[in-house]
Amino acid sequence: MGDHEETFNLSYWRAVRATVDGVPFMDAFYERFLSQSSEIAEMFAATDFDTQKQMLLISLVHVASFDPVHGPDATMIRLARRHRELGISPRSYGLWLDSLLDAVKTHDPEYSEDVRESWQRVLTPGVEFMISEGSK
Ligand code: HEM
Repeated sequence: MGDHEETFNLSYWRAVRATVDGVPFMDAFYERFLSQSSEIAEMFAATDFDTQKQMLLISLVHVASFDPVHGPDATMIRLARRHRELGISPRSYGLWLDSLLDAVKTHDPEYSEDVRESWQRVLTPGVEFMISEGSK
């Protein structure tokens, strides 16, 4: 496992366990992400967030494991198809990643620039796969 993967994995578990001012990590992420634009908020108007938060936590592991050389696993293919149907723009993926990194900043008690970079590096290939599938 590379340094970035290890830093990401350790940070992921610290963030997932953390609650700041009564707000868990995933809630902090969705609060930020939905406040980015009314277009994004509207897409989640009918969403059951208990389920959504659980699914996102699990899907992060798949996005992080995405390897461009070996290609996507079944979950990544399904996830990319679902988001293509939803018509998500590349710009929204940028807002998604920024919102997530901001939530890591508040919720990982050992947050640092190194931690931020590890999330960015580990997730970017999977996010780029989602973006490229969305433009097909
Ligand atoms: C790599 C980034 C992303 C990941 C890992 C991710 C993950 C997920 C997962 C796991 C689901 C549930 C899928 C299912 O129902 O089986 C989902 C649904 C959804 N995602 Fe994403 N997502 C990402 C980016 C985005 C972006 C940028 C948007 C933009 C608005 C978005 C909007 C939605 C919407 C609207 C749903 C459906 C919610 C519902 O069923 O009510 N996602 N996402």
